[in-house]
Amino acid sequence: MTENSIGVAVIGVGMVGRAHAAGYRTAGSLFSVDRPDTRLVAIADAYEPFAVDAAKRFGYERAETSWEAIVDAPDVDVVSVAVANSMHREVVEALLGAGKHVLCEKPLAPSVEDAKAMVAAAEAATTHAGIGFTFRRAPGINAIREQVMQGSIGETRHFNGHYWCNYAQDASNPISWRYRGGPGSGALADIGSHMIDIGEFICGPMTSVSGAIFQTFTPERPVPVGMTVGHAGGEVSDEMEAVDNEDIATFTARFANGSVGTFSISRVAPGHANSLAFDLFAETGAAKWDMDRPAEFSVIRQLRDDGLDGYNQVLVGPAHPYLKGGVPMDFPGVSFGVGDLFGFQLRAFLEQVAGIEGGLPPVATFQDGARDLTIIDAVIRSAAAGGAVVDLPPHHAA
Ligand SMILES: NC(=O)c1ccc[n+]([C@@H]2O[C@H](COP(=O)([O-])OP(=O)(O)OC[C@H]3O[C@@H](n4cnc5c(N)ncnc54)[C@H](O)[C@@H]3O)[C@@H](O)[C@H]2O)c1
Repeated sequence: MTENSIGVAVIGVGMVGRAHAAGYRTAGSLFSVDRPDTRLVAIADAYEPFAVDAAKRFGYERAETSWEAIVDAPDVDVVSVAVANSMHREVVEALLGAGKHVLCEKPLAPSVEDAKAMVAAAEAATTHAGIGFTFRRAPGINAIREQVMQGSIGETRHFNGHYWCNYAQDASNPISWRYRGGPGSGALADIGSHMIDIGEFICGPMTSVSGAIFQTFTPERPVPVGMTVGHAGGEVSDEMEAVDNEDIATFTARFANGSVGTFSISRVAPGHANSLAFDLFAETGAAKWDMDRPAEFSVIRQLRDDGLDGYNQVLVGPAHPYLKGGVPMDFPGVSFGVGDLFGFQLRAFLEQVAGIEGGLPPVATFQDGARDLTIIDAVIRSAAAGGAVVDLPPHHAA
């Protein structure tokens, strides 16, 4: 670490990279003053206006226009990688090779093969490597997981998750890296990767997937005139390019503990800008969480026989994971949103790098990222085989 403090950088500030840039700023102010000393060093983006804007806006020392500049920077120790999935492996391997700590966005890679190579690179490195399964930091999701772990709703039986977005609804929205790659690289890898991870986070390892269906409704999209950002639209040309991947992916799953999973993933769901939600039905109760209302969750802890069964609506507060000290006003019903998850995630990663013990749970590993892709690959094979059952290898979380 340079001068006893951790120098941080973000590569790619299109959409989610900006949340990382902001997250490193807030990470130091969370939970306790026993914090890693952090320097906001550099933002890199191939599109210079984005790099310059984000560096100014979030208070970083400089803007760069290539990721290689971050690999070579002696004053950078920790790097968030927030570029297109197809670039993750090359950038991450170079960063690890240069002795940087790396937090890579999900999905870890475009293929299981690339992901396994990245796991090997992380194992060979002396630095930390993690993946941005951001929803593992959601207080409501963690509160539900605690109920499961404590046995207060009994054995889980049915996990029903959906991640519905509308970003691909408009057929005139431009082509981007999100629409390239084969079956499974569309809605499934882009947003379903989160839902799969949450399913295993709550119910433990899956043993098989089945019944997979993919569907694409917009087979080609216009080429943009300028830059595209995240899911957003923009000015387009008359030229069209083929869409390679699915708008909708659905599948079922079995978990090792006997639970059944039903997953519904869509990027063409009108009325749902970014709607991740799940219901969990268990032996003696139930629970549910919805990103549209991230500061609350619902739970039934004991079934009754007096006709008054129903969900308790619980506002997340200091009694739940991440909230105490995690937001400036840590009271139920005050000041919490999904953007806070990035601060929690980056605080956890900085604590790992600084060797601070007893703090937040560590970030998900590259093995977890490769596991997620193994499940995605099984869903792809199920869809290709008309919905056949595809068994999964066991997962040994690091
Ligand atoms: N955890 C989450 O909630 C979450 C949310 C959105 C996206 N993501 C993931 O984050 C990654 C980025 O997604 P996005 O939507 O922000 O993408 P994006 O297309 O909006 O942004 C990517 C940025 O990378 C830049 N870039 C391209 N080539 C580059 C290079 N050679 N060097 C430096 N920068 C370069 C582009 O100019 C662009 O600004 C993806 O892996 C995506 O799956 C995660």
